[in-house]
Amino acid sequence: MYGLVNSGLADYVRRNYDVETWNRIVAKSGVSTEVFVSMESYPDEVTYNLVVAAAEVLGQDVAKILEGFGEHWVLVTAKEGYGSLLGMFGDNMKDFLKNLDSMHARMGTTFPKLRPPSFVCRDIDATTSELEYHSERAGLTPFVVGLLKGLGKYFETPVDIKVIGTKSESVSHDTFLLTWSVKG
Ligand code: HEM
Repeated sequence: MYGLVNSGLADYVRRNYDVETWNRIVAKSGVSTEVFVSMESYPDEVTYNLVVAAAEVLGQDVAKILEGFGEHWVLVTAKEGYGSLLGMFGDNMKDFLKNLDSMHARMGTTFPKLRPPSFVCRDIDATTSELEYHSERAGLTPFVVGLLKGLGKYFETPVDIKVIGTKSESVSHDTFLLTWSVKG
C-alpha cells in the first residue's frame, strides 16, 4: 500500500504513545525502511508486518490496532491532510458512504498504483443500511470498523456498527449493518 498508509500508522502510534514505541515496532517488524514516502507504493506485507509488530509491542490484539488506526485515519490523516477531498463527497455520512468509490477513484489520479477497496451502501429502511466491503486484501475488517466509527464522529452521526457477514470462499465481501439512531 502507499506510504501514506504506513506513515499514518506511524503517526497513530507516535501520537497515542511515543516515538520510542514506534521505533521498537519498526525494529520488531523486520521492515528495513524507517521513513515512508507517502506517494510511493510499498508491498502490502510492510503494512501487515508493522500492524502485527504493533500488536506485539503494545500487547493488544491486531484487531484493536487496526480499529484504532482506522479511526485515526479518518479523524487525523484524512481530516488534516485531505479535508477538502472529504468535503467534496458528501455532507452527511450516508451520502459519503455511497460516494466512497468515487472518492478513491479521485485519489487514483494522484496515486496511480492505488488498488482501492469498493463499497456498496444500501438503505434497508429509515434507520438501517447495509454496507458491503469488497477488497482484494484479507484481514482488514476491523480497519473498516474503525473507519466507520471515525466517520460517525466526523459527521457527528451516532451509528451502531455490526459485522453481519464476512468474506469466505463462497462470499466475496464483508457486510456491515449500520443502524442510525436518528431517522435519515
Ligand atoms: C480522504 C480520505 C482518504 C484517503 C486519502 C484514502 C486513501 C487510501 C489509500 C492511499 C489507500 C491504500 C491503497 C493502496 O495503496 O493500494 C487506501 C486504502 C483503504 N481505504 Fe481509503 N482513503 C480515504 C478514506 C477512506 C475512508 C473514509 C474509508 C472508509 C471506509 C476508506 C477505506 C479504505 C480501506 C478499507 C482501505 C484498505 C485497502 C483495502 O481494503 O483493500 N478510505 N485508502
